[in-house]
Amino acid sequence: MKSEFQPIGVFDSGYGGLTILKEFLNDLPTYDFIYLGDNARAPYGPRSFEVVYEYTLQAVKKLFEMGCPLVILACNTASAKALRNIQQKDLPHIDPERRVLGVIRPAVESIGDYTRNGHVGILGTVGTVLSNSYPIELEKWAGGKVVKTTQEACPIWVPLVENNETDSPGTEYFVSKNINNLLAADPKIDSIILGCTHYPLLMPVIRKFVPENIHLLEQGKLVSSKLIEYLNRHPEMDQRCSKSGIVKYFTTENEKVFEKNATTFIGRKIKSEKVLLK
Ligand code: DGL
Repeated sequence: MKSEFQPIGVFDSGYGGLTILKEFLNDLPTYDFIYLGDNARAPYGPRSFEVVYEYTLQAVKKLFEMGCPLVILACNTASAKALRNIQQKDLPHIDPERRVLGVIRPAVESIGDYTRNGHVGILGTVGTVLSNSYPIELEKWAGGKVVKTTQEACPIWVPLVENNETDSPGTEYFVSKNINNLLAADPKIDSIILGCTHYPLLMPVIRKFVPENIHLLEQGKLVSSKLIEYLNRHPEMDQRCSKSGIVKYFTTENEKVFEKNATTFIGRKIKSEKVLLK
């Protein structure tokens, strides 16, 4: 008998979550995945708490309808502004057997392995920075290891990535400006979390302006190893996730544009379908 398609859902406002999916596909090649990018409404960063929550909940419901027993919000802005509400308020009555996880905790839990002096920098969207999720979580989880967290919102970076401008001269201007602000606010920073899943796509430019002795933490590998740990700790969920190595891509924007850009970002040719969120 053919087993049911029960993929792991991966959601982002746009292309950024592909940096997380890429690591999942490396580490869990037998699992089925659905990627959903809300490209038509990206970026989420400048949007209010209510709107990000509403859009993210629509996406989670859609991924549940498509058969996902587990959804990863591969977006810091959605994780910061919607995850807790969805977990505590919505899941109990939508379906208490399904799970939604975010990307902030995996980065926070790993920071102790990187920082030597406890001075940590966060680069994120306006929404993520204003939510204070990173300082709050770092305080809770990293305990005495983090002494000072400094945040810098980078409102232009996501639009640059969404518009495939990752290596244009204008990009260097904005990237250097935000990094200089961050390092001027705390010159002792020895580790920086890229607190937005779009930012790894700007890594070559970011690295140009961040001194070599400062660690730059990308979330992809960290989130992927935490997902593996999660599946090991929850064999009942692991069994529900189907494993035929199928990956499907959905976007709320034009599928041809998505396919072209996503291929650059994920390093493989893909096919996608358009989906409506409401
Ligand atoms: N990839 C999202 C994040 O990690 C980008 C948010 C946006 O759309 O502004 O925050």
